[in-house]
Amino acid sequence: MRLSNIEFKAMNNAARRVLQRTVEFPVFKRMGLTEQSCDILEIGCGSGYGAVLLSELRPKSYVGIDLMPEQIALARQRRLPNAEFMVQDAAQLPFADESKDAVVIFGVLHHIPTWRQVVSEVYRVLRPGGRFFVEEPDGAAVAKFDRVFAWGHASDALFLLRDLERFLQTTGFTVLGQRHMMSFGWYHARK
Ligand SMILES: C[S@@+](CC[C@H](N)C(=O)[O-])C[C@H]1O[C@@H](n2cnc3c(N)ncnc32)[C@H](O)[C@@H]1O
Repeated sequence: MRLSNIEFKAMNNAARRVLQRTVEFPVFKRMGLTEQSCDILEIGCGSGYGAVLLSELRPKSYVGIDLMPEQIALARQRRLPNAEFMVQDAAQLPFADESKDAVVIFGVLHHIPTWRQVVSEVYRVLRPGGRFFVEEPDGAAVAKFDRVFAWGHASDALFLLRDLERFLQTTGFTVLGQRHMMSFGWYHARK
């Protein structure tokens, strides 16, 4: 779903970039997001700062998708070599089966009522042994946050982290690692 105006601003500022660079991406790296020369897909790439961080892995290819044309316009302004950005709904990935080595998500599924379909699509596009790195907030915490700050998350998209973990396993992933900090969870899963 599209972000509310307030969340769009909260996602596109220097403080958000500092958090992503100094906390969120290092957690993924400690969990194993270190392989170089991969075909990487980032879902909900926003304004492309994740692509800047992931470029340190020197991917063979990087594609960032996002539902919001405004986000993709910002991402394209970064003019990153070897990175492609597309307006695309994550529930229908326009990529061949078994065509990616790694899929990365920085806090996106909790905006998508059909998040289970997205997880299934991630499984489909990953090569056997491919890795899924996903970070999400717990839905109960998001609901409480919204009662105070009114960012307007859609309640039908919110899920508990234990439901995400369970669904990763149901889909066929092996969960290799997980970290929890505040109300956020990071998962590293292998196809
Ligand atoms: C909370 S923002 C996170 C953006 C970026 N990953 C970050 O960490 O700064 C969620 C992003 O997911 C995108 N999004 C929401 N629903 C989507 C969908 N169905 N398909 C693709 N992207 C979606 C939004 O447009 C937004 O850019």
